[in-house]
Amino acid sequence: MCGIVGYAGNRDCTDVLISGLSKLEYRGYDSAGIAVFEDGKITVEKCKGKLEELEKKLAREHKPQGHCGIGHTRWATHGEPSDINSHPHGNANVSIVHNGIIENYIKIKAFLTDKGYEFDSDTDTEVVAKLLDYYYNGNPVETITKVLSEIEGAYGLEILFSDFPNTIYAVRKDSPLIVGVGQGENFIASDVPAIIQYTRDYYLIESDEIVSLTKDAVSICDIHGTKIEKELQHADWDVEAAEKGGYAHFMLKEIHEQPTAFRTTIKPRIMDGMPFIEECGITVEMLNSYKKIFIVACGTAMHAGLVGKYVIEKLARVEVTVDIASEFRYRKPIIDKDDLVILISQSGETADTKAVLMMAKEMGARTLSVVNVKGSSIARESDFVLYTHAGPEISVASTKAYMVQLSIMYLLAIELAYAKGVISKEECMHLTKELENMPEKISEVLELKDRCQFIASKLVTAESLLYIGRGLDYALSMEGSLKLKEISYIHSEAYAAGELKHGTISLVTEAMPVVAVATQSDLFDKTVSNVKEVKARGAKVTMICSEEVNVDKDVANHLVKLPKVDDILMPILAVIPLQFIAYYTSVLKGCDVDKPRNLAKSVTVE
Ligand code: AGP
Ligand code: GLU
Repeated sequence: MCGIVGYAGNRDCTDVLISGLSKLEYRGYDSAGIAVFEDGKITVEKCKGKLEELEKKLAREHKPQGHCGIGHTRWATHGEPSDINSHPHGNANVSIVHNGIIENYIKIKAFLTDKGYEFDSDTDTEVVAKLLDYYYNGNPVETITKVLSEIEGAYGLEILFSDFPNTIYAVRKDSPLIVGVGQGENFIASDVPAIIQYTRDYYLIESDEIVSLTKDAVSICDIHGTKIEKELQHADWDVEAAEKGGYAHFMLKEIHEQPTAFRTTIKPRIMDGMPFIEECGITVEMLNSYKKIFIVACGTAMHAGLVGKYVIEKLARVEVTVDIASEFRYRKPIIDKDDLVILISQSGETADTKAVLMMAKEMGARTLSVVNVKGSSIARESDFVLYTHAGPEISVASTKAYMVQLSIMYLLAIELAYAKGVISKEECMHLTKELENMPEKISEVLELKDRCQFIASKLVTAESLLYIGRGLDYALSMEGSLKLKEISYIHSEAYAAGELKHGTISLVTEAMPVVAVATQSDLFDKTVSNVKEVKARGAKVTMICSEEVNVDKDVANHLVKLPKVDDILMPILAVIPLQFIAYYTSVLKGCDVDKPRNLAKSVTVE
């Protein structure tokens, strides 16, 4: 799940590559490297660690001078993060950067070793570089085609041949690649933020298309050499949107962008006071006809799906199964052509989620994706797509993407409930109006950040925490717990509050703080009883509830009171203190908030 970038033009190539890579570090930051044509030869500089380590190395040792080159920021899959395993890989004749996994690399390695090749790294990538060298016949496109017929797996590859010093060759399969088109310069990258400061016009490259790119021309052909004409895409993002905009971290900025993200996502889908999702191609009749609904996703996106399940079942009375993509794909699920499979993904590139999509299509079901990144693989492969309009999410910990995923779950649930005749037009319009009012409420909750910072200061020394809740609040507890673990490295566990007494409560002592989410009025008293149970065993309790409930002062040590909205909409507000608590705990611990260890933003491997 690395980030790759390439440049051909008149600018200082190293500078362009470094700036492009800095926008792609969310894809991995185990190592960074570049290969640049310098005086007609390929010069490689690379090292372990974040991009700034490479920048220091270039300043200390040698900064390649040239106008055409490729770059890479790595999330290791094969071989530990090290200088040697860093990309680019190759030799004096050919140099490559790779995003993905070559599944049959052991076989190819054995074949090439037999032919006398030696390998420096433990990566799967190096075999591709050496295989290109082995088959090289003076014609790069023919050579690449030959290599493609032998490699299996996923790849976004950028290739330099020393015989063609002003040209970048590239090809992809299941890993993303775009070509940025400028004036007298062209770019290639895994994702748009890497090129947007230079050009907004780009081509989306499809699987097995081969790109040849110089400063003056971009040519794209298929594996039979047939030329392909493409429509130019235009990125309408704000350049600023990809920057921190004055906040200490992207995560904090993205938490604050939630009112806008929510509004931008639902506004075009409300017409005459009613939800309108037909723009994606799904008609009311279709919605009405599905027998079963599956929601499949990973991590935070799956947690948004859990809220979706509660809400769809409650409002529309349709059964919904939610699953983790990596489990679902291997458990032989019973899906048929009358079912709807909903895939939720911020990046639209998550390998497990994409695999479920392909499986569902094969089984004949209809597929609907809820995706943030335009033109991403999952969006392109699904029958219908509802884009969330959160803008680029850079922080590895997902916040605003979850928020907009929730907004779509609500729209879907309300529209489905109306289509099924479970709610009246008045109820439908009332709920839609409430949804339209949420951005103001979200802004109000953002004001609670100082309170959350104070609570974080009380949690920061804990070794382990429990998050508890019932119903929708349990789904929220899972998201709160994941967020804390992910960025503060404090262990935590989310538990259904009523289930504690069946085992987990034995963990509770004064050393185990508990965060209780209690926003649902029908379950409030029950959750309070569970809170009392943990408090009686010494736990310090933080409780998140609505401002309307009366909580005896000895029930919780810290209270976070949220504006009261319809019970069913409370998750939209309740997640914000959970995000802030995780954020400030991470800051107080001095962790790398936006780039937590061992993680990457886009998980394109299984
Ligand atoms: C969220 O904070 C995580 N970084 C992670 O769980 C993420 O939501 C998951 O990997 C799914 O990613 P996607 O939405 O891009 O498919
Ligand atoms: N498999 C390659 C490596 O480990 C690329 C990794 C990736 O794209 O995630 O270096």
